[in-house]
Amino acid sequence: MIKIHQINVGGFDSNFSYLLHDEKTGDAAIVDPCGSTQLIKDKFLCIKKSFPKYILLTHGHGDHVSGVDSVKAFFKAPVVAHPSCSFKHDIGVSDRQKLPFGDIYIECLYSPGHTKDSIIYHLTDDFAIFTGDTLFIDCCGYCEPNSMFKTMREVVYPLADSNEVYSGHDYGRCPHAPLGDEKISNPYLLTKTLVAFQEELKNL
Ligand SMILES: [Fe+2]
Repeated sequence: MIKIHQINVGGFDSNFSYLLHDEKTGDAAIVDPCGSTQLIKDKFLCIKKSFPKYILLTHGHGDHVSGVDSVKAFFKAPVVAHPSCSFKHDIGVSDRQKLPFGDIYIECLYSPGHTKDSIIYHLTDDFAIFTGDTLFIDCCGYCEPNSMFKTMREVVYPLADSNEVYSGHDYGRCPHAPLGDEKISNPYLLTKTLVAFQEELKNL
């Protein structure tokens, strides 16, 4: 069972960082270390058995990577990102690449739209997705419309409803929600045509 700690680290704009921990094996990962990294450290130090495995970047924007160097002081793990990410990283992952984590995998889903280096991290037990600035609760990030629409339709929408959506910012009606709910309430996810999607983007 993987425990997910959603940490409201403040940052530039109500950023979220995440600490993932598999209680059985001790495997641990951090998603988008940023903002007040002391809060991440405090959570990490509460974990008894832990093996830092990955620092996962959803994309290279400054507000999402600002804490990488400081977490590396206590969380010695390789930094994972899309190969085109300009922020320095140790592992450049390809689309659908699966990283072993506990008894499951973290699947890296290439999700261009907000940026060309965007990745959604998906737990293969369909328990969670970490969507960065691609998908927010009831919203999406600023984007290039064609590629973002394709990402929403072909990458995000087909995922199982049971996945909890954990995004990069605390912008929504709640900090996280099941993807099944978002398929009903998020206009950027449920829109079926590019024209309608472009129309919705005017409301961003
Ligand atoms: Fe961003």
